[in-house]
Amino acid sequence: MKKVSKICCIGAGYVGGPTMSVIADQCPEIQVTVVDINQERIDRWNDKDLDKLPIYEPGLKEIVGANRGKNLFFSTEVDKAIDEAEIIFISVNTPTKTYGKGKGQAADLKFVELCARNIAKVATTDKIVVEKSTLPVRTASAIKSILENTGNQVNFEILSNPEFLAEGTAVNDLLNADRVLIGGDDTPSGQEAKDTLSAIYAHWLPKERILQTNVWSSELSKLVANAFLAQRVSSINAISALCERTDANIAEVSRAIGTDSRIGSKFLNASVGFGGSCFQKDILNLVYISRSFGLQEVADYWEQVIIMNDYQKKRFADHIIATLYNTVSGKKIAFYGWAFKKDTNDTRESAAIYVADALLEERAEITVYDPKVSEERIYADLDYLETRSPEENRRLLKVVKEPMQAAEEAHAIALLTEWDEFKTYDWDTIYEKMLKPAFVFDGRRMLSKETMEKKGFQYYKIGQS
Ligand SMILES: NC(=O)c1ccc[n+]([C@@H]2O[C@H](COP(=O)([O-])OP(=O)(O)OC[C@H]3O[C@@H](n4cnc5c(N)ncnc54)[C@H](O)[C@@H]3O)[C@@H](O)[C@H]2O)c1
Repeated sequence: MKKVSKICCIGAGYVGGPTMSVIADQCPEIQVTVVDINQERIDRWNDKDLDKLPIYEPGLKEIVGANRGKNLFFSTEVDKAIDEAEIIFISVNTPTKTYGKGKGQAADLKFVELCARNIAKVATTDKIVVEKSTLPVRTASAIKSILENTGNQVNFEILSNPEFLAEGTAVNDLLNADRVLIGGDDTPSGQEAKDTLSAIYAHWLPKERILQTNVWSSELSKLVANAFLAQRVSSINAISALCERTDANIAEVSRAIGTDSRIGSKFLNASVGFGGSCFQKDILNLVYISRSFGLQEVADYWEQVIIMNDYQKKRFADHIIATLYNTVSGKKIAFYGWAFKKDTNDTRESAAIYVADALLEERAEITVYDPKVSEERIYADLDYLETRSPEENRRLLKVVKEPMQAAEEAHAIALLTEWDEFKTYDWDTIYEKMLKPAFVFDGRRMLSKETMEKKGFQYYKIGQS
């Protein structure tokens, strides 16, 4: 097993930033450099004001503050970091392809491939290259082939080490990981590489939580973990629609099935639908891979999880329109929350984007308040859909910095993210500010129906008739 003194990570995003900060914190003898081609992102990682870090995660700024400049560095000098490191993590984005073969389903691996080519060009000493990004099964062999054909006599060991952290709880998830997965070759040098990486995690995790597998199992397990989690959300959301048509209450159903120890209670909260950069992308990837192996039924089975999620978002928007007397044209609807979940400023695939888009199509006027998401991000999310012009998006949707301002003269409020602060608001004052009847559409099941109705609201909670 090699003793490691320098590692680097390519990609200073939601995974690379927190993961490397925790490694630096737990392994003071290792110098950790996180590199990115995005200068602005790196500048923000280096900002003296820790509130300006590019990623908001509870507990992250404290860890960055304690280690930055000691053994944790953020830089745009990619080649230098590759050259010096013994282990190189690749943690770049792997979005769904928007062009060519596999468009709309397969993972776009161009960023990963660029990294591999860059490592091949720069490396002059043996390296362990770690896939931290979520990649389709058999990507490691593509990376291996690129690296092995450099002709500069350097030996590369490729490991798959997918990341299981969840945004909003990333630091805690990293420090108390249920398991870490390390996939690699069963050759002596492959085993040595797996042990070298395992030793890093063993600084803070018990050995039994560090699982070594072959590369393919590791790559596939990451996709399957996300598919199973998303499947639970879609399953409970499907039942929420049924609850609304009957006298069943989704909270009671969730509790009743979640207390079955074979099922367990997590990921059983009905909501307006899952978002985030990973669930949809990884399932689409699974669907694509299954289809490419001719496994049509397997592909269809997993695709249904996404179809159900899209249905839930559409159902929520349709319910708002139907309740507001079948027209939202010119009506002010306040959105509380834009992030895809609480405690993150990430908005990728957030349900709020799609609900907003559906309401804007009906000419609603939306005012958004989110405690952590910037105005630029919100407009960028909407513009990306290309449903209407950027000018039209700015005319119909406004972003405010105060929740009370959003409620002013609103016909309705829609809760799209489960930020804890929404529970603590003075809902009596909000009621006074709104037009009557004052509607609240709770897409996160945060508030009490009884209390809200007592205050005078017309209150709808997903999963309750
Ligand atoms: N976000 C999550 O919760 C999460 C969880 C587990 C796994 N993952 C996976 O981790 C990977 C990264 O996700 P993320 O959310 O951190 O993405 P991200 O978009 O936040 O960050 C990726 C970063 O990589 C940089 N980059 C791209 N190409 C580069 C290159 N050639 N050289 C240097 N930098 C480059 C980008 O500028 C960007 O800053 C993805 O494969 C994702 O599926 C994400």
